[in-house]
Amino acid sequence: MTYIFAHRGSSKDCPENTMAAFQKAFKDGADGIELDVQLSKDGVPVIIHDEKIDRTTNGKGYVVDFTQDELARLDAGSWFSKEYSKESIPSLQQFLEWIAPLPMLLNIELKNNIVEYNGLEEKVLQLLHHYGMMDRTVISSFNHYSLVKIRRLNRYVQTAPLYSSGLFEPWEYVKAVCSQSAHPNYKSLHPYIMKGFKRNNIPVRPYTVNSQKWMKYFFEWNIEAIITDYPILARDVLNSLPP
Ligand code: G3P
Ligand code: MG
Repeated sequence: MTYIFAHRGSSKDCPENTMAAFQKAFKDGADGIELDVQLSKDGVPVIIHDEKIDRTTNGKGYVVDFTQDELARLDAGSWFSKEYSKESIPSLQQFLEWIAPLPMLLNIELKNNIVEYNGLEEKVLQLLHHYGMMDRTVISSFNHYSLVKIRRLNRYVQTAPLYSSGLFEPWEYVKAVCSQSAHPNYKSLHPYIMKGFKRNNIPVRPYTVNSQKWMKYFFEWNIEAIITDYPILARDVLNSLPP
């Protein structure tokens, strides 16, 4: 059975990467949550997608130039809708405290492909360990050096390279970066690529699958998981297919 991961939470209906979006994902029946992590000026892992706070908060500038306290005071919901004006940028710790007792999977994307965040890998591992989330979390990144690094720090952590266009024999690439699964852009997953992944027993979790047509395609391949902004729709599509 294919798992449904909520991309930045249920980001079609709520402001992305906020507790409101994560809580909605749980209510929507998502099996897991995908979120993006960066470091604040004082070295705290915080959940936000862009390297700058401009698009999704009422502030301006780079995440790395604000302390966690300053980031937590920003309004991270009004850009989406006034009703979410009390939403803020969660810290990873705040999020883990919420998810740890719930039966959910987790995909942490290390957003370190533009800004270099020294110590991000160590801090994320430490928090996952503290909250007992290690064995239901997969770490992904577009920075594949970071994936190799995190595997060297902990040889049990599950990792997956993110990539946006066609790689040659991507299942070989996954092994080359010491990962166990792949997180490609969904459009690169032609049937011959799907077959290669299956032959090599590499689980695949494509992003960002938002149309019914593509959801159906991946469910019929019995893919490991899809990452979607719209988990409630994915659940409906999955339930409508013959067993
Ligand atoms: O992790 C899947 C997806 O989130 C990767 O792209 O830009 O949405 O973080 P992005
Ligand atoms: Mg992401």
